[in-house]
Amino acid sequence: MARTVVAITGASSGIGAAFAHKLAAEHDLLLIARRKDRLDSLAADLSQKFGANVQTIGADLSRDDETAAVAEHIAGESRLVLLVNNAGFGAKGRFWQAPLERQEEMHRLHVMATVRLTHAALRNLVPQDRGGIINVASVSAFVRNAGSVSYAATKSWMTAFTEGLYLELRGLPSNVTVQALCPGFTYSEFHDNLHVGRERLAGSKFWMSAEDVVNASIEGLRRRKLIVIPGWRYRVLVGLLTKLPTGARLAIESLTSSRRQEYVTAGSSHDIESDH
Ligand SMILES: NC(=O)c1ccc[n+]([C@@H]2O[C@H](COP(=O)([O-])OP(=O)(O)OC[C@H]3O[C@@H](n4cnc5c(N)ncnc54)[C@H](OP(=O)(O)O)[C@@H]3O)[C@@H](O)[C@H]2O)c1
Repeated sequence: MARTVVAITGASSGIGAAFAHKLAAEHDLLLIARRKDRLDSLAADLSQKFGANVQTIGADLSRDDETAAVAEHIAGESRLVLLVNNAGFGAKGRFWQAPLERQEEMHRLHVMATVRLTHAALRNLVPQDRGGIINVASVSAFVRNAGSVSYAATKSWMTAFTEGLYLELRGLPSNVTVQALCPGFTYSEFHDNLHVGRERLAGSKFWMSAEDVVNASIEGLRRRKLIVIPGWRYRVLVGLLTKLPTGARLAIESLTSSRRQEYVTAGSSHDIESDH
């Protein structure tokens, strides 16, 4: 029987690459990111190890035209069973001081690309009554922090979007599964790109491997869990914070924000728009 296909955005490193490694034993893959050279070498590795057929698309998903081309591919893939909307990035600096272009780019990638690719995938999957979508959000969907305004807002949106889809699919009813994956601090290139010291953000017990995050997600998918928060520490944290009245929650978040000065005041010249 022909293998089914999993599409993964942001597969050139970190959590996306870990999803590719985890799923290549059973599925063919469609890997998407800007660094096509990275995708091609991952594809060669996975084909050799698992016999998977791995296609790669070099695309900037913050661009409308490139996202549309990927959506078309996803809509037309008859063997599609899973889309992982994982591509994403963080940014530093107060919202009003940081470059607007970078904030808009984040919204286009986390929100608009997720809208478009999810629409294409569901039009494909719902009539077949099978498969799923994993939207990689973050614990930041539940926690606000100065210096991460757009990040937390877009990740909250991803979680709310996934919850809405869950209700629609359940109402059909449909066997298509949706999941908002909400990891905490995860070893990947994410914080290297931000030039933020990991040890200054959180103790080592709060850092997880991309493999552990992916294992929790796949186990959650098997159990049809809507919200997956890998790691018990994060589940406790989110459980407590989300039960607090808004004022009390913001008071705590104000304390944690003042400890995260590396985020609030951007470190390098291109992180903050020049005053001149
Ligand atoms: N690491 C954490 O602590 C953490 C915690 C919670 C949630 N997350 C979320 O997890 C997801 C994966 O991040 P990660 O931790 O694995 O970081 P990462 O190693 O930096 O991976 C990010 C991936 O997104 C891709 N990407 C970024 N901008 C893109 C664009 N414009 N178009 C297409 N692809 C793009 C990157 O590929 P190219 O550069 O090749 O395009 C890369 O493959 C993100 O959505 C992030 O918000 C991470």
